[in-house]
Amino acid sequence: MENELAGKIALVTGASSGIGAAFARFLAEHRAHVLMTARRADRLEELAGDIRAAGGKADYWVCDLSDAPAREDLLRKVKADVGSVDILINNAGFGWYGYYHTMAWEDAARMLAVNVEAAAHLTRLLLPDMLAKKTGHVINISSIAGGLPNQGIAIYSASKAFLDAFSTSLYRELRGSGVTVSAMRLGPVETEFYEQARSLENGGAVPAEQFAIPVARVNRALWSLLRHPRRVVYVPGWLSISRLLEPLFGNLIDPLGPLLLRRK
Ligand SMILES: NC(=O)c1ccc[n+]([C@@H]2O[C@H](COP(=O)([O-])OP(=O)(O)OC[C@H]3O[C@@H](n4cnc5c(N)ncnc54)[C@H](OP(=O)(O)O)[C@@H]3O)[C@@H](O)[C@H]2O)c1
Repeated sequence: MENELAGKIALVTGASSGIGAAFARFLAEHRAHVLMTARRADRLEELAGDIRAAGGKADYWVCDLSDAPAREDLLRKVKADVGSVDILINNAGFGWYGYYHTMAWEDAARMLAVNVEAAAHLTRLLLPDMLAKKTGHVINISSIAGGLPNQGIAIYSASKAFLDAFSTSLYRELRGSGVTVSAMRLGPVETEFYEQARSLENGGAVPAEQFAIPVARVNRALWSLLRHPRRVVYVPGWLSISRLLEPLFGNLIDPLGPLLLRRK
């Protein structure tokens, strides 16, 4: 079981903290060769050092994923230095909470570039090789927010809805090809995500923060998904009911208006 990923090459975006860093450690423990990317070189260096010291295999490249040429350059280097990727985890992303009309456009544009464009672009660049090899797994890190377009998270929720639709379309398109595309729809997880969201211009405290689960729960879900590839997984599992809330109760939520925002 420990060696099930031996010989597999896994690229994890946003590996410098939180869920991505936990995934990188976890995949390396299961003998995958982990390729990591993010902007903070010191964090990646330290993590790669820890993984190697524990006997694992890790490499990293610093990349601002909001930049399209940088993404292409990243994959050119990955291909030249390591070879073709078996598992792509589109994890890099960030949130912001508040009235959309007070959100700095630079932050909104960067959120779309990282949460949406980078995931679509890296997938597009890596799929042909996966299809040629008839094996591969793309995992898009989404959120229950994708199905709950609530007050305060207009761009974030829309970015995750994109990932949900994108993953489902590709899952169906690629069925039978040996390549799986999955979405992990996460509830709140204990990471730097909330601190990051607050640190942006006019960013408020995200209401769900106090319900966050430990990142180890997400690792377990990743393991299950890798062993039994499927279209979608919710973490924690009971949050699969969240997909029913909007279609069933959207009309009741509408009159609440910006209730959560006012409570900030
Ligand atoms: N935590 C939650 O409650 C929660 C819930 C649902 C979904 N998610 C999703 O889980 C994913 C990981 O978030 P997290 O909770 O682990 O938060 P986190 O600890 O803040 O990690 C975010 C990661 O994204 C990277 N990133 C951000 N902007 C980037 C850019 N321009 N270029 C390259 N990398 C960039 C960051 O690296 P650098 O800053 O070093 O670039 C960091 O490694 C996100 O997609 C998030 O939407 C989180």
